[in-house]
Amino acid sequence: MAVYSLIILSLLTCAAVLPLASSDPSDEACLTHLSQSLKDPYKNLQNWTKSTFSNPCNGFNSYLPGATCNNGRIYKLSFSNLSLQGSISPYLSNCTNLQSLDLSSNALTGSIPADLQALVNLAVLNLSANRLEGEIPPQLTSCAYLNVIDLHDNLLTGQIPQELGNLLRLSSFDVSNNRLSGPIPPTLGNRSGNSPRFNASSFEGNKDLYGYPLPPLKSKGLSILAIVGIGLGSGFASLVLSFTGVCIWLKITEQKMAHEEGKISQLMPDY
Ligand SMILES: *[C@@H]1O[C@H](CO)[C@@H](O)[C@H](O)[C@H]1NC(C)=O
Ligand SMILES: *[C@@H]1O[C@H](CO)[C@@H](O)[C@H](O)[C@H]1NC(C)=O
Ligand SMILES: *[C@@H]1O[C@H](CO)[C@@H](O)[C@H](O)[C@H]1NC(C)=O
Ligand SMILES: *[C@@H]1O[C@H](CO)[C@@H](O)[C@H](O)[C@H]1NC(C)=O
Ligand SMILES: *[C@@H]1O[C@H](CO)[C@@H](O)[C@H](O)[C@H]1NC(C)=O
Ligand SMILES: *[C@@H]1O[C@H](CO)[C@@H](O)[C@H](O)[C@H]1NC(C)=O
Repeated sequence: MAVYSLIILSLLTCAAVLPLASSDPSDEACLTHLSQSLKDPYKNLQNWTKSTFSNPCNGFNSYLPGATCNNGRIYKLSFSNLSLQGSISPYLSNCTNLQSLDLSSNALTGSIPADLQALVNLAVLNLSANRLEGEIPPQLTSCAYLNVIDLHDNLLTGQIPQELGNLLRLSSFDVSNNRLSGPIPPTLGNRSGNSPRFNASSFEGNKDLYGYPLPPLKSKGLSILAIVGIGLGSGFASLVLSFTGVCIWLKITEQKMAHEEGKISQLMPDY
């Protein structure tokens, strides 16, 4: 009898403690720092409060809209199209169970933190349509499960890291409409084997990016220069030609005249 009530009591205690035990200090650090680095001027994020960060998950449910939990840990953050400003905190890397990060279609500035490399379970990274600057961190290669890298419509500069070609699970890759430069790594532009291939739409809209699958460089600036050059060149050439023509004609006429004059002088009787 006493043993039974003890078991029931401990089961009850367990059930009561479980939701509390689900709070994770790393997730709390992650969310706290993220809320400090992001700005939410239109108050689009509900429950973006300290008490939620210390206990964001109720088992599989979340008190933080946009966050999804799995076994008491944050595994998905989806804050798309919420007019968010500010930057992406490097402490996001403390959400170590994160599988999907979607901060697309906001007004985020700053760079993509290389610290994201600690998110070894990350499969989806969508930071598209923001104002992110700086280079694409090559460290993202450490996130070996990455399926989706969508960084289109940002202000990213530098080259596309060749290392990203090592991400064998990559099925979607989009860096279009940035300020990237240099060659497209063949490991991304011309993937071999059964890996999904990325076409030009993944790379277009970067002024100084080149290589397959983008069409060969036919820069507008160059062709205008070429047209002007050809115009000027041919104009100059025809000028030189007509000038030479006139010179030759003059010379011939002069010689003819001299010849005629000579004839005339020969015909003239000597006095
Ligand atoms: C906000 O969080 C509290 C607990 O912290 C929860 O009871 C409430 O349902 C949450 N609201 C929303 C909209 O998720
Ligand atoms: C983004 O949000 C605005 C208003 O908040 C809405 O009008 C628009 O349709 C949304 N865009 C997308 C792609 O969901
Ligand atoms: C949390 O993230 C910061 C920044 O990346 C890092 O320095 C720190 O070691 C992380 N802490 C834990 C517990 O992972
Ligand atoms: C990334 O987010 C944008 C906007 O929310 C969406 O249109 C796009 O399809 C997403 N990318 C992928 C690869 O799912
Ligand atoms: C793409 O790779 C194949 C070999 O896998 C090679 O034969 C081909 O020339 C490459 N194409 C370009 C445009 O580099
Ligand atoms: C390029 O690939 C995307 C999917 O990644 C597809 O939707 C689009 O139709 C392709 N474009 C061309 C021209 O093949």
